Amino acid sequence: MKAAILKILKEHTGSYVSGESLSARLAISRAAVWKHIQALRRAGYEIDSQPHAGYRLRSVPDALTPEAIKSGLQTTCFGQEIHYYHEVSSTNTVAKTAAAAGAPEGTVIIAETQQAGKGRLGRAWYSPADSGIWLSIILRPRLEPRDAPQLTFLTAVAAVRAIKEVAGCTVQIKWPNDLLIAGRKLAGIFTEMSSELGLINYLVIGIGINVNLATAALPADLKETATSLQRETGQKQDRARLVQQLLLEMEHLYHELQTEGFARIREEWLSYTQLIGRWVKVTSLKGELEGKVVDISADGALILALADGTRQTIVAGDVSLRGRDRTYGLF
Ligand code: BTN
Repeated sequence: MKAAILKILKEHTGSYVSGESLSARLAISRAAVWKHIQALRRAGYEIDSQPHAGYRLRSVPDALTPEAIKSGLQTTCFGQEIHYYHEVSSTNTVAKTAAAAGAPEGTVIIAETQQAGKGRLGRAWYSPADSGIWLSIILRPRLEPRDAPQLTFLTAVAAVRAIKEVAGCTVQIKWPNDLLIAGRKLAGIFTEMSSELGLINYLVIGIGINVNLATAALPADLKETATSLQRETGQKQDRARLVQQLLLEMEHLYHELQTEGFARIREEWLSYTQLIGRWVKVTSLKGELEGKVVDISADGALILALADGTRQTIVAGDVSLRGRDRTYGLF
């Protein structure tokens, strides 16, 4: 109900909405409207009230609470259920527990800070308080486990689109799923899966986006290699708005994947990587390899043509561009 009241107040930003019309639209008493307004004020929303005019939203807190996200959310499934935490170990870990206990598809776990944020290849993910988007979403796709990487690719495409729409920034994808601006890492995706033979039980897709991290606040080892939307645009970005857009883009693409398949999404993903035909160095469990990228397979592996004419398929690793290309910062 708080989210519904907020949604109406946001639709009328700058003007008053009467208690009477709120109570009529939401089919609750005026006393109940007042109770919810008080609760919103306690949560940090500044709401003016005038005896004959009603309520006017003056400012919203910078928080990713369920009401902040839901009050502008246009999805029908993704983010309809949100578990919000000030602090967690890792939203992926919490999401896996919730998924195993039967949480429905589209459930979002989101936190203001993570004490043990996880990245790919066993790395840590720096997740300071109140400045980024650290969220995990539970999906239960009707796909073979080998096709699970398609969901990570889809998430990267959704994030590129959402960041462009909300912050106006053009983002590149570095295989497999790092999001970069001018060679610096802005966001990462870490997918975990529970599966049986031929069947996905659930996927947890974790995404971290550096939104309002000031460069000065970054740890020394990240100052050169990482960036944030605030650093790139010179202004603070609306985190809740970005979560809303990300979930909307993801839901659209998820629907497209289930109805039309992966081909078009793959093409869009490829257009953001500009990788095909370029010489790269890949650091993987197999060691270091150099070669020309000839393709990305349907299950997300990088296919390299080596100088000796042989081909290598690489499932996990880090890529840097070689030759006259600039080298991407590696994490
Ligand atoms: C990477 O680039 O290695 C992936 C980073 C993924 C970080 C996100 S933040 C939300 C979710 N919870 C985690 O512990 N990790 C992911």
